[in-house]
Amino acid sequence: MLKGKRILLIVAGGIAAFKSLELIRRLRERGASVRCVLTEAGAKFVTPLSLQALSEDRVYSDMFSLTDESEMGHIQLSRDADLLVVAPATANILARMAGGLADDLAATVLLATDKPVLAAPAMNVRMWTHAATVANVETLKQRGIHFVGPNDGAMACNEFGPGRMSEPEEIADAIEELLAPAEQPLAGKRAVVTSGPTREAIDPVRYISNHSSGKQGHAIASALAALGADVALVSGPVSIADPPGLRTVHVDSADQMLAACLAAGRIDIAVCAAAVADWKATRPSGSKIKKKAGTAPPSLELTPNPDILATLSKPGPQRPALVVGFAAETENLVANAIDKRQRKGCDWIVANDVSPAVGTFGGERNTVHLISASGVEDWPTLAKGEVAMRLAGRIALHFSLPPKAEAAE
Ligand code: C5P
Repeated sequence: MLKGKRILLIVAGGIAAFKSLELIRRLRERGASVRCVLTEAGAKFVTPLSLQALSEDRVYSDMFSLTDESEMGHIQLSRDADLLVVAPATANILARMAGGLADDLAATVLLATDKPVLAAPAMNVRMWTHAATVANVETLKQRGIHFVGPNDGAMACNEFGPGRMSEPEEIADAIEELLAPAEQPLAGKRAVVTSGPTREAIDPVRYISNHSSGKQGHAIASALAALGADVALVSGPVSIADPPGLRTVHVDSADQMLAACLAAGRIDIAVCAAAVADWKATRPSGSKIKKKAGTAPPSLELTPNPDILATLSKPGPQRPALVVGFAAETENLVANAIDKRQRKGCDWIVANDVSPAVGTFGGERNTVHLISASGVEDWPTLAKGEVAMRLAGRIALHFSLPPKAEAAE
């Protein structure tokens, strides 16, 4: 049921817009109220009057309407809902969303909202599989936009393949799932997750770093937040977006990363997924080191960085109840990871193979082993998001078990 839920339905210009009329009916039958924003292209397929009659509310389409803005400004429109639904989500509106455009009311509302957004794509199969659309959808997913469909099937353009908008019932089900009060087994727990590489300055323009993308650590932070934990993500320099729904602290060096972890205060869960540089320059130069003709290249003296995982794992009243580390190895993966768990003093190690052939660094998938006091679990190859959800699920299970049940976990 969607009793009392407020849906802002954005209808863009595609032939599937006629199904959005049916969607309004289905949502209202389930108890939701629906308010519509119609794009200029959408109005070529359905009329404002049909949307108005079915939603029993006025329809918004003009960004510069003085009456609309005085009665309901676009910011309020974007916030006065529990969920924004874009159906049909055409290639054009997805591109505008990915690009952060605010060139009409629909795009502006989508940019200004602080509410979850669900998109139901509908377009020709070639448009859906075009590299531009694929990249836009990936960007939007990374930013936390939810998707339902598209389905395979015959299309209005006489082609066959993925691109058909999901049926109104399917969209209504997806909406219900999104708005259902999620189970929050980690509510009340505080977590810190480190992610990404660190950057150790040699001089103001040069640094030591590595290829970590931050994808796995960021996904773990999101998964813990989805289960209700209060999460601080301490991220080294990465090119991916800050995940929605949690606090991200940006740092450069290992020293800054450690300081940010300690500044988080008392925490229950620490997950150290960052690829922290092992060494830093002993004496970083305050000015750019110059090449001098005829002289030998400078030598770089290195000093070990603080070990954040080992520091957080130190026994004492401040120690988080659960500390999880990662082991990125190219050989003897499990044996080295078991050894690492002992050396660092953490509770669990997630071991992953980072041989270049496996493509873990920067890739989308990961094959990991979970090492705890009770043994080694081999997980199948999963998308990084799935590894994250599975790990968060295991963490929630750990906190739900009585302490002595740990060994049987
Ligand atoms: O020693 P190694 O780098 O292989 O250990 C990997 C694990 O230790 C990861 O969880 C990583 O986040 C953590 N680590 C750390 N601080 C360091 C080095 C590694 O937190 N200086």
